[in-house]
Amino acid sequence: MGKIMLTGDRPTGRLHIGHYVGSLRRRVELQNSGEFEKIFIMIADAQALTDNFENPEKIRQNIIEVALDYLSAGLDPSKSNIFIQSMIPELTELTFYYANLVTVSRLQRNPTVKSEIQLRNFETSIPVGFFTYPISQASDITAFKADTVPVGEDQLPMIEQTREIVRKFGQTYREGILVEPNALLSSNTACLRLPGTDGQAKMSKSLGNCIYLADTEKDVKKKIMGMYTDPLHIHIEDPGHLEGNPVFTYLEAFSKPEHFAEFLPDYANLDELKEHYTRGGLGDGTVKKFLNNVMQTELAPLRARRAEYEKDIYGVYEILKNGTEVAREEAAKTLAEVKAAMKIDYFTDNALIASHAEKYNNK
Ligand code: TRP
Repeated sequence: MGKIMLTGDRPTGRLHIGHYVGSLRRRVELQNSGEFEKIFIMIADAQALTDNFENPEKIRQNIIEVALDYLSAGLDPSKSNIFIQSMIPELTELTFYYANLVTVSRLQRNPTVKSEIQLRNFETSIPVGFFTYPISQASDITAFKADTVPVGEDQLPMIEQTREIVRKFGQTYREGILVEPNALLSSNTACLRLPGTDGQAKMSKSLGNCIYLADTEKDVKKKIMGMYTDPLHIHIEDPGHLEGNPVFTYLEAFSKPEHFAEFLPDYANLDELKEHYTRGGLGDGTVKKFLNNVMQTELAPLRARRAEYEKDIYGVYEILKNGTEVAREEAAKTLAEVKAAMKIDYFTDNALIASHAEKYNNK
């Protein structure tokens, strides 16, 4: 059996470079590796509604933004099925059945759910839909029998919970239908959680510290030149610090030796640059200018592809529609197997009907 990849994002806003290095860039590499028989990339609108149910217009407007971000990053609709979660009712149905296999206390222990509850001040009144979204995420993954789920670090508890549901389903009903997925994390620690331009631990729209994939060249430059650095590095000759310095974290995530050759040939690689910075004598402006060159080089192909797709929004909706159709067929197959294993396939099980007929002495 060939490998199957599935992953997705909540359409609550445009995607930023944290999404890009955390997962999107990897997905594109995996897509182009030829290793996968099937690839599903999901715009998780139903999940986004679990904590944005009062704001459906926001989700609706961001579907196209996320789709454009995907396509501009290099996801290729001839290789990857890009689809919209809510258009596949089979996923909701699976969620209802999987809910029987999960306890409330297990959900309460999910670290990502826990921290999101705090973040949203849900403590005293947690919406049930939000509370159970890990179960829905298990449906997203298992409906496609995905074995590989490239995600950011915060999604590990979801994959673990999915694996538990798969095992429980196997023990309770039938082995061999659902597949235990594996998370695929970036091996570059800078990519696991890219800080904001202000040095805050997380890039987030509400903090206003994001660089978006759709930002113009000018915007990107302005954001980079205004980035937080080492507050103790006042004079050029002062020794600089790398910890908590987002400029260097971004360089870890984006720079390659060929960028040094092209833009900063005095240094062979990032280690040499870091060494000079910590020794003192290297100004933040020089480092930021280099980072800007690196980022512009990396983002230019994305911008070019985005410009093409932006000219054909009808075509982008067609891509979503086709991807959704293919995904729905796949999910329907799995749901049929799940229902058969759960003995809720009354009309297709002729043996069942015949046995009841016999019980009542039908001729
Ligand atoms: N929870 C993911 C996020 O916050 C989105 C998502 C929904 C997802 N279903 C998924 C990711 C299934 C991977 C697999 O962005």
